[in-house]
Amino acid sequence: MTLLGRNLLTILDLSSSEVMYLLDLAVRLKQMKKQGEVTDCLKGRNVALLFEKTSTRTRCAFEIAVSDLGGNAMYLGPGDTQLGHKESFKDSARVFGRMFDAIEYRGFDHSRIETLARYSGIPVWNGLTDQHHPTQFLADLMTIREHCKKPLEQVSIAYLGDARNNVANSLLEGAALMGMDIRMVGPEQLHTDTEILNRCLAVARKTGARISIGTDIEKGVTGADFLYTDVWVSMGEPEEVWKERIEILRPYRVDARLMSLTGNKDVKFLHCLPAYHDRDTYVGEKIFLDYGLDGVEVTDEVFESEASIVFDQAENRLHTIKAVMAACLGNM
Ligand code: CP
Ligand code: NVA
Repeated sequence: MTLLGRNLLTILDLSSSEVMYLLDLAVRLKQMKKQGEVTDCLKGRNVALLFEKTSTRTRCAFEIAVSDLGGNAMYLGPGDTQLGHKESFKDSARVFGRMFDAIEYRGFDHSRIETLARYSGIPVWNGLTDQHHPTQFLADLMTIREHCKKPLEQVSIAYLGDARNNVANSLLEGAALMGMDIRMVGPEQLHTDTEILNRCLAVARKTGARISIGTDIEKGVTGADFLYTDVWVSMGEPEEVWKERIEILRPYRVDARLMSLTGNKDVKFLHCLPAYHDRDTYVGEKIFLDYGLDGVEVTDEVFESEASIVFDQAENRLHTIKAVMAACLGNM
């Protein structure tokens, strides 16, 4: 199989066998890294890392992965270039395409990354847009495979909270593609966008995936192998949204009661991070202190428990992102 020259804008740009190929490659690259073995499949290649939003995991993963593969990464952070204020995406894309071999982009509306892909003429990989976070899904699935030995078609994930955000959309699309059981649980206002849901339902008809969308927590989590949540207000959303989100999402916070409601003693907790799980993490977000919450989307008890595999998930961002670049640019 070859993915040479391919973009990754949404997870549905890949087939299920391409996802499996990337995951197997990620496992191989993870083993190589642990054993100190190197490959230089990106030798002489330059990768632009364009960030219009901040990042810890995605930026570090891309930068370290390019370096591990023998290439050169250039980080261009918010405000570092003319992109989007002094120059259009279309023109900047054509300039980047003349200088770089590939682009990673993190930013706002998904149409921007589509413009970069259309006009740059080089592979473009999505490091998060308002609507999609496909490299996150690859790390999620790698982590799920490490912690649950069931065939993917038998694995059940319940996602609680804001089901309209990027992480939730890519999780739903990915689970649909891989034929899994996925339940999106939250208040109606935050249920999956209809266009994305319809696309996923069409995929599920082919793969046998089971998709459910609902407000009922007990029904949603019963029998789940994984409970997954994300921040209740995403980057780029106005601060004022917090008040309403806390009110409508409070029942969906992942706590010990929800974990035991699954009826599965081996249930694991997933979160893409960063997470608001205790008062030390409410950096600058004074609103939580006013509400007196002990953990926002997840309690500290669950976050710090044995069931929490969030740091394996974070580490796997590196190995999966490396696999994407090794396959799409390094022809591995
Ligand atoms: N999960 C994730 O994308 O983290 P960062 O925002 O730190 O990159
Ligand atoms: N939904 C979150 C994910 C952060 C990795 C956001 O967009 O801020």
